[in-house]
Amino acid sequence: MRALCHSDLIAEGQSKGFERDGVRLFAVRKQGKLYAYRNECPHLGINLEWLDDQFLDADGCLIQCAMHGALFLIEDGQCISGPCQGQALQAVPCEERDGKVWVAL
Ligand code: FES
Repeated sequence: MRALCHSDLIAEGQSKGFERDGVRLFAVRKQGKLYAYRNECPHLGINLEWLDDQFLDADGCLIQCAMHGALFLIEDGQCISGPCQGQALQAVPCEERDGKVWVAL
């Protein structure tokens, strides 16, 4: 595991993008729990966001790909709507310890 950032950098209901060792990923906090995924849409393999750190839909309930609007569950990355429905984002194992977020890349 390697440190990604301080825990308080990702507030409740917020998402944040990172690049570590050439790997693009993002993290989302929902109901206190942190989830991390590779920043790669299963549809075309491109980054999900158009604006920095904007990975969620307007309601903040789902992860959204800005290119064609695919929607993914925050909890498991499953695509529930859009051109890659039935596929999933690639999860990055993460945990919080000592006030920091740690990821396994
Ligand atoms: S590239 Fe993400 S929905 Fe098409």
